[in-house]
Amino acid sequence: MLNALSSAPPAPTFSPSPAPATPPISAQPATPAAQTVVPVPDCDVIVFGGTGDLAIRKLLPALWHRDREGQLPESARIIAVSRSDASDAAYRDQVAAAVDPAGDQTTFARFLSRLRHITLDATGDVQRDPGWAALGDLLRGREDHVRVFYLATAPQLFGQVSRGLRTAGLVTPASRVVLEKPIGWDLASARAINDEVGEVFSEQQIFRIDHYLGKETVQNLLVLRFANMLLEPLWNNSWIDHVQITAAETVGTGARSGYYDASGALRDMVQNHLLQLLCLVAMEPPNRLDRDAVRDEKLKVLQALRPMDSGDVARCTVRGQYRAGAVDGEPVPGYCTELGQPSDTESFVALKAEVQNWRWAGVPFYLRTGKRLHKRTTEIVVQFKPVPHSLFPDQAGAVTANRLVIHLQPNESVRLLMMTKEPGPGGLRLRPAPLNLSFADTFGTRFPDAYERLLMDVVRGNPTLFMRRDEVEAAWEWTEPILSAWQAGGEQPRPYHAGTPGPTAAIALIERDGRTWHEDHEEEPSL
Ligand code: BG6
Repeated sequence: MLNALSSAPPAPTFSPSPAPATPPISAQPATPAAQTVVPVPDCDVIVFGGTGDLAIRKLLPALWHRDREGQLPESARIIAVSRSDASDAAYRDQVAAAVDPAGDQTTFARFLSRLRHITLDATGDVQRDPGWAALGDLLRGREDHVRVFYLATAPQLFGQVSRGLRTAGLVTPASRVVLEKPIGWDLASARAINDEVGEVFSEQQIFRIDHYLGKETVQNLLVLRFANMLLEPLWNNSWIDHVQITAAETVGTGARSGYYDASGALRDMVQNHLLQLLCLVAMEPPNRLDRDAVRDEKLKVLQALRPMDSGDVARCTVRGQYRAGAVDGEPVPGYCTELGQPSDTESFVALKAEVQNWRWAGVPFYLRTGKRLHKRTTEIVVQFKPVPHSLFPDQAGAVTANRLVIHLQPNESVRLLMMTKEPGPGGLRLRPAPLNLSFADTFGTRFPDAYERLLMDVVRGNPTLFMRRDEVEAAWEWTEPILSAWQAGGEQPRPYHAGTPGPTAAIALIERDGRTWHEDHEEEPSL
């Protein structure tokens, strides 16, 4: 199923084959899943911001893994573009120092030989900066190959780099441009960027990346919902009480504090990653698994989000900022100390959203994300309604409502909390316990990083897991009033100590509604 999502260039569609006869169910031991390497066309991947954090920490390791698994064609090249005056050799050294060769030195040497570095100041004059000509020289003669221009730069540069590429004559019909999030910092800037890039590249050539969509468990959400009969009939406001989406990190802003301070948690995580997860949970079944059917359905969810006025923002959102504390037993500094100056940017957000349509009316979606929290976890919790009447005696214990916990990271799993009878004599005792689908135990395979999958989708020209222009703008349309209300109301972030679950107001946000945030310790050992 997942390969069907990725394997049909250039516009993959998913056409269900005739239903096979139901195979007998037997207790098979878990076997490693077969790894399929889908060939991709020959390509040049040109990374603007090629010496930056994202390139070194994510993009290069992702490309290395694809190369190691034999997916990169023989003559594929990776061209890093940055202001640094590094030579090819110096750049290769930088990458070699940062990327784990996984004990495969021979293949790693081949990977390093694919790398080039071009010194270029994308903010400068295209006619004067020799970097553009050098880039042109490198690409000359390969006009029919796929060209991926990956803009791992600040969004302010997206338009300028796109124009530079056009002026330098480097945009071919087989070119694609990848825009790293954030696309802008509000609706107007997102529109302006989309317009500027749209003057150079067609919408089909623009790949707006949200790396959450490349995560295995996120893709699995589609399979979970639409390849199982069990859940979909219950997937609505008759049976579901509420949904929680949490992306908690233990890391601070660290070396990224400059970027982060101009952004904050709402722009950095909610406007994109968390809303995309919400869309996948809430969307209607698309009629096909192709580039537009899925994105059309996600767009409808974004358009159905109830807009928040200033009163809603005061009631339904909480911003926070970490102070010094301890994470995993280690003392860590507060947000402003890390930044080196005072700031009222939020490193934590919790909010309550509503999707106004027939399926979801009355079902709150609680979202929260933050840095320097007590544990790293990204999960979606679907809380079902309680049973209408308990027939068990009080001393048997409370009947807890069923909960589906989709754990995105770490330790990818899907767990369904069921009520069960504690085994043994001595009266009836009820206990919640999970049916546990742990992907590591079941499939025993390496989980590719989201960027691996997404980069190969770009090369293949498959935009299904990328955000369309209208999606990005609809997400900003909903998010912007929250930012404006915070600003207008002078809303200061509430302090929380590093290593805690965030400000107490975030706990109060959900508890006011008679609900609680999900914590792992509520689960007993698996059945
Ligand atoms: C990025 C944000 O998009 O996602 C970061 O800019 C955040 O601030 C990161 O740390 C989280 O990604 P992941 O894959 O570690 O959950």
